[in-house]
This record gives sequence, structure tokens and C-alpha cells, in this order.
Amino acid sequence: MPSPLEISGLRTPEEELRLTRRELIKRIVASGAVASASTFVYGGLAGCGSQRGSPAGGVERLISINVNGQVRRVDVLPNETLAMTLRYKLGLTGTKLGCDRGECGACTVMLDDVTHYSCSVLTHSVRNRKVITVEGVGGPSGELHPVQQAFIDELSPQCGFCTSGQVVSAVALLKRNPKPTREEARMALSGNLCRCGAYHNYLNGVMRAAGQETST
Ligand code: FES
Ligand code: FES
Repeated sequence: MPSPLEISGLRTPEEELRLTRRELIKRIVASGAVASASTFVYGGLAGCGSQRGSPAGGVERLISINVNGQVRRVDVLPNETLAMTLRYKLGLTGTKLGCDRGECGACTVMLDDVTHYSCSVLTHSVRNRKVITVEGVGGPSGELHPVQQAFIDELSPQCGFCTSGQVVSAVALLKRNPKPTREEARMALSGNLCRCGAYHNYLNGVMRAAGQETST
């Protein structure tokens, strides 16, 4: 059914579609706000649920961790992964769980500016480190990071499930190498699998954010 704007002639059907997709992409790259149902598609919760609820995981201990510049107090099981803590205890669901075994990169975060798979890091081990998730890469007033803006401009995401990890890897790259070559960007993002195959657009996003030439 045509939208009111379409009926009024203010937007063509093509413009409607493009705007809607760009708005959706903006939400995805800003906070990883892809439908949480994707987690079930990837089967990530199967392993997490058992870990969360099971007393076999041991006794929780209250610890402090520095996440996105804030000290957060949280009860953590001995075998609890950082991805679990971030998503299910701190509400930072921009960090996605795909494989939950260090293969896909959906859960990528920065620890002291170095990328790590948060599904493969125990929360207890990050107590003296600075954790940055996709929610923490932008400005203090919610401004998008240049990488996020470039991913929007290049329409990089397709389904968006891998986007948070791609953003964090790209931000970490530009921190240590502000003018990467396309090959260097490819290497930096090589740990982030995209089942939609949107690699070309993500690379264009990184190059755009770095002020480098993109590829058609
Ligand atoms: S969820 Fe796949 S690497 Fe962590
Ligand atoms: S955009 Fe769908 S998995 Fe990457």
C-alpha cells in the first residue's frame, strides 16, 4: 500500500524505499539495534541460557568493570563470558552473539583499544581493562563515530547482524592506523564474518571514514 507521502507525491516509491532503508541502517550502526530474534537464528542463546541459569557455573561475585568509560558494578559467575555480562546483565545488546565460540566476530569489543571476541573472554579477566562496545564508540552526546556515519552513507549493512562487530573492528583499526590501505582494512576486518556477504560495502565504509578512495 502506498504511504501518505507517496500518495501526496512528496516522495517517489524509490525514494520511500531508500529513505526507509537508510533510516533502518542508521539505527543498526548506531547501537547494533538489529532485531534480537537474529540471536536465535544464529543459535547464540542456546549456550548462554544454560550458563546463565545454571548453579553449575559457581557462585557470582560482585566486581567492577570499566565499560564505555563508566565503572559498572555487576555480579559475575566464574565462567561467565564478557559477551554474556554485557548483553544480559548490563543491557548492552549491541554486542551480538553469533557462534559463541570465537569464530564469527559478531561479539567484537575493544579491550584497551585492541579487538577481542567477547564470547571468548571471561568477565573476571577484564577488571583492570577498558572495555569499549559499539554503544561506546560515538561521541558523548550520542554523535555517530565517523565509521558509523560512513557505514550509513555506503549502505554497508544488509541484515545488520554483523554490523556491531564490523564497526568496532573498523574503529579499532582507525585508532592505530588512521589512513589504512584497502588491503589493511580488509585484514583488520577479516575476523568479522558477514553471512550476507556485504564485505565490499563495509570496506568502502572504512575507506570513506578514513578519507580514502572507495571502490565501485
Ligand atoms: S559470537 Fe562469534 S566470535 Fe563471538
Ligand atoms: S550484514 Fe548480514 S551478516 Fe553481515
